[in-house]
Amino acid sequence: MEQIQLEEIVNYYSSVRNPKEQENIIAMLREIQEVDGWISQNTIIYICSALELKETFLKCLIQRFPSLKLAPYQHIVTVCSGERCKRKGGDLIFNTWKEILKPDQNGISRDQVFCLRIRNCLKHCTQAPSFQIDEQIYSNIKLSDIGKIIERYRSKKETNETNK
Ligand code: FES
Repeated sequence: MEQIQLEEIVNYYSSVRNPKEQENIIAMLREIQEVDGWISQNTIIYICSALELKETFLKCLIQRFPSLKLAPYQHIVTVCSGERCKRKGGDLIFNTWKEILKPDQNGISRDQVFCLRIRNCLKHCTQAPSFQIDEQIYSNIKLSDIGKIIERYRSKKETNETNK
């Protein structure tokens, strides 16, 4: 996004009533993301300075909304941290994802294809342990199969890029 376009959007939302209200901030972030596809660190710094917000606050807000992205990743991986999944090895699943993706502090994988998150319950407890990639639920998957699943999603990305 060009700086002037970012300034226009931020100026507009700075002038609305209660610009620091969550609803207004989210609307502004969505509009920015529509142009860029994600919310960059430079954008965050600019918004925080314009609206006098703390960076940590804005990042937490972005992370609470799965549709907002802190990096141009392609897929969200959500591992269940609920009790029933934990009892059946949910922690091992999460650690396996972490070992393979090596996410940064925002959960973004090194190759920026995945964003790794945890959620308390994915509502598939009877088939625990579970994780989810985008809208697709995976239950009772062997740890050794996680690498293959990752490769499948990575090759989807390559196919999409080749077709551009
Ligand atoms: S506890 Fe994992 S799906 Fe419910």
